[in-house]
Amino acid sequence: MLKVGLIVGSTRPNRFADTPVQWLVEGASARHDLQLAVLDLREYRLPFFNEPASPAYTGGVYTQPEAEAWRKRIGEFDAFIATVAEYNHGPTAVLKNAFDSAFLEWQRKPIAFVGYGGVGGARAIETLRGAVIELQMAPIRHEVNIAMEPYLGVVQNGRSLNDYGYLVQSREAMFDHLVWWGEALKAARQNAAAASFTPAPIHPARLTPTNRQAKTAATGAAYE
Ligand SMILES: Cc1cc2nc3c(=O)[nH]c(=O)nc-3n(C[C@H](O)[C@H](O)[C@H](O)COP(=O)(O)O)c2cc1C
Repeated sequence: MLKVGLIVGSTRPNRFADTPVQWLVEGASARHDLQLAVLDLREYRLPFFNEPASPAYTGGVYTQPEAEAWRKRIGEFDAFIATVAEYNHGPTAVLKNAFDSAFLEWQRKPIAFVGYGGVGGARAIETLRGAVIELQMAPIRHEVNIAMEPYLGVVQNGRSLNDYGYLVQSREAMFDHLVWWGEALKAARQNAAAASFTPAPIHPARLTPTNRQAKTAATGAAYE
């Protein structure tokens, strides 16, 4: 059974997020290939990133105890799903901050997105795809987009996400592919650990502040 963390990507009162979360938990409970745990950002109370150095320079260690607790929890999972609300054509600040608040624990693990809003959260999801690649994750192609009609159907007309067959199909396809990637990458991580093989380097090849200055001086190019 693949251990999957379901990150609840919005925290405001009256959030819609609880609807897809409940629906995903229901869908996962009918399957035997994955075990879903809800990671509600309301409960982790992560401070906005305020570290004196990037985790790329600190071995992935954080000074804030809430971030340390969060990253250790993230380390317990082999794959992730995030619910994605779209705020002003981007992801919520709390969700982006949650990604910034762990580092090594994300690496070489797949993630799927379940978006909602006018266009099913598609714009916010596209933004997140780039962010999670930088974290050395593998965002999978299959996502769920709860767009205007089902969103309003639930909010205004008391409908259920299960009333939309194409959403149920999308959810199952997303689970199928997440499990495939999750098992493949879990095996690859285990094989690499058994062989003591670490592709160099596990951290992105960051320049230190000192050699960053040297590189800028030598090439005239700005770094990052
Ligand atoms: C600050 C803010 C900005 C929003 N911007 C967008 C947007 O750019 N695109 C969109 O489709 N919906 C937008 N919405 C509507 C959200 O899709 C809708 O409120 C959704 O329920 C938000 O997720 P949540 O209820 O889990 O917080 C916005 C909502 C808020 C509160």
